[in-house]
Amino acid sequence: MGLHVGIIMDGNGRWAQARGLMRTQGHLEGLKAAKQVVKTAASGMGIDFLTLYVFSTENWKRTAEEVGFIMGLVRQYLKAEFAFASENHIRVRHAGDLSRLPPDVAGDIADVCRDTESFAGMQVILALNYGGRDEIVRAVNKALASASASVSGKEIKINETIIAGHLDNPDIPDPDLIIRTAGEYRTSNFLLWEAAYAEYYISDKLWPDWTGADLVEAIESFQKRERRFGGVNSASCEAGVSL
Ligand code: IPE
Ligand code: IPE
Ligand code: MG
Repeated sequence: MGLHVGIIMDGNGRWAQARGLMRTQGHLEGLKAAKQVVKTAASGMGIDFLTLYVFSTENWKRTAEEVGFIMGLVRQYLKAEFAFASENHIRVRHAGDLSRLPPDVAGDIADVCRDTESFAGMQVILALNYGGRDEIVRAVNKALASASASVSGKEIKINETIIAGHLDNPDIPDPDLIIRTAGEYRTSNFLLWEAAYAEYYISDKLWPDWTGADLVEAIESFQKRERRFGGVNSASCEAGVSL
């Protein structure tokens, strides 16, 4: 199985501000960077899943103008990139609460998810109106609803398998690597449950300045990491034995 990479695409506003432009211009440039990075990711570098953090459950706090612009860009992207997805067998999926998105946006997302469902190449997961806490709360409620429908009157005990099985995309493996651009050291509510053992890579570059080469650099850094998942690696076991 190939890698699952998640990207917190941050810094669009700062990119625009630094040039005396509107924040919306930064989002437009950010979209261009996203296209570049998706192309590189799909070019056979061992990435099976790419989750892009497009819009968080907290991003509604921004002005109606900015929110509307981002939603418009998403719709444009979905339409303009269908041919690319089709040529490259890219399956598009969604993470987040679709029910609380404007109906036109939700409809376009549902359409592209359905139209690319049979594509067996890389999967691009658009985290849109996504919040890690919101996803966990919805997962627990889904689990409770299906449990109370099947075993009425019985005590329901939640466990990790049940929560994991009711997340937005339960079949997708946990992310191996989470990239954050624009030099911020926080998760901002991205994949809270799934990222328990993800490696983090922080880049100071603002998202609109990102290119495919930056993704390659991030993957190379990831490949040098040692992942222990709470255990001990074989080299340190051997060292312990020889002491
Ligand atoms: C990321 O860039 C895009 C979204 C959150 C939608 P920002 O818009 O957060 O850019 P900064 O952080 O203000 O520079
Ligand atoms: C995280 O960036 C959300 C996305 C990239 C979509 P934000 O810019 O919203 O995060 P904070 O506010 O800096 O934590
Ligand atoms: Mg930001």
